[in-house]
Amino acid sequence: MANPEQPLRHVPVMLDEAVEGLSVRADGRYLDGTFGRGGHARAVLARLGAHGQLLLMDRDPAAIAAARDEFADDPRVAIRQANFSSLGTWEATAAGLDGVLLDLGVSSPQLDEAARGFSFLHDAPLDMRMDPETGPGVADFLARASEAEIADVLWEYGEERHARRIARAIVAERQARPLLRTTQLAALIERVVGWHEPGKHPATRSFQALRIQVNGELAALQAGLEVALERLRPGGRLAVISFH
Ligand SMILES: C[S@@+](CC[C@H](N)C(=O)[O-])C[C@H]1O[C@@H](n2cnc3c(N)ncnc32)[C@H](O)[C@@H]1O
Repeated sequence: MANPEQPLRHVPVMLDEAVEGLSVRADGRYLDGTFGRGGHARAVLARLGAHGQLLLMDRDPAAIAAARDEFADDPRVAIRQANFSSLGTWEATAAGLDGVLLDLGVSSPQLDEAARGFSFLHDAPLDMRMDPETGPGVADFLARASEAEIADVLWEYGEERHARRIARAIVAERQARPLLRTTQLAALIERVVGWHEPGKHPATRSFQALRIQVNGELAALQAGLEVALERLRPGGRLAVISFH
């Protein structure tokens, strides 16, 4: 459970490499499509002069609230809650960008905030949506998808070699009772496959796969890369971090 006394933090990965890769110019215009808690954004901003611009996006309203708390008064910063796949529809990008940063996946605050349902370590509703206003969460997906569809998701997005057995067990479970809680799913997977990778909870791959599915992460990445390349000015840089 997150401690309400302490702000949720995220330790940025490959901070120096990513900011170096963007080759930030003091008067350039940059976009961070995955603000999170701003580790990378802060480092880019530190390199910008008075005429530089930083556009911040995240699809998670909690991340955007944190961005507004910290940067609302900085005239160099613009903030928008949206999927980075839609960055081309943001007027602020129309004149082109000198750099785009995408740091893919989930943030630590998303994992640590039990109620979001991203973690099998905390009992919570099975949700995992980065934007809680958009699309069905994991419980809805698992209630409606066919056994074959569930198995495909677990295999393709989680490389879970027990995908078919897990999918079969999920369908059997939902016929007996609704599958609604993170710990209910984690315990079911543990029952079906046991601990087959030392030191790794047996539900790790399935949770990753279901998160990627309900957030449409691969489609967002494909669309985001295409539109980022369209928006980059000559000599502009695109930095993408995919951390496991
Ligand atoms: C790994 S964290 C980013 C951490 C950030 N670089 C930092 O230093 O704090 C990923 C963030 O990207 C957001 N995100 C993931 N996919 C997104 C998408 N398609 N569009 C917008 N935000 C996305 C998540 O909500 C999460 O806040």
